[in-house]
Amino acid sequence: MSKLGRIGVYPGSFDPVTNGHLDIIKRASRLFDKLIVGVLNNNFKNPIFTMEERVALIGKCIMELPNVEVKMFNGLLVDFVKDNGASTIVKGLRAVSDYEYELQMAMLNKHIDNDIETIFLMSDIQNSFLSSSIVKELAKHGGDIKGLVPDEVVDDITSMMQQRFKMQEET
Ligand code: PNS
Repeated sequence: MSKLGRIGVYPGSFDPVTNGHLDIIKRASRLFDKLIVGVLNNNFKNPIFTMEERVALIGKCIMELPNVEVKMFNGLLVDFVKDNGASTIVKGLRAVSDYEYELQMAMLNKHIDNDIETIFLMSDIQNSFLSSSIVKELAKHGGDIKGLVPDEVVDDITSMMQQRFKMQEET
């Protein structure tokens, strides 16, 4: 398969990583010599998981993928892309509802730097309903998140969520 460029960047909040993310990571890793998973640090979305936790969870899932690396970033995505010698941003699209926001982001990033391309991979149909938010919602209420997040991190995410919400109930 021909390569889209030497290095690709797959950015996101990953709060936490899901099977949908991992599917995109695996598929994108075949398109580039190296894929960098960029985890946004200064996130207005108020993540539940700390930066270190989000990076560590992804790290556990990519052990078998030698050309994938996880890094945190601050500030503009296009700067992170350039600083890492990349020129392609990879995003996943689940449904038409993702399209409008993602199109806006892709246009904005192209406006900031015309040399940077965004490519979209369609989510696998079985992940089309999946999001970090529904994983958190389910785990928060004691639901089983197996099958929604990578097997390697089911227990970690479950216990992190239990800790957080038990602590909140106690305070
Ligand atoms: O998983 P998410 O939360 O949808 O990821 C969003 C992300 C991290 C890709 C996006 O918020 C982002 O690129 N943030 C960095 C700041 C930036 O460059 N914004 C666009 C131009 S203002």
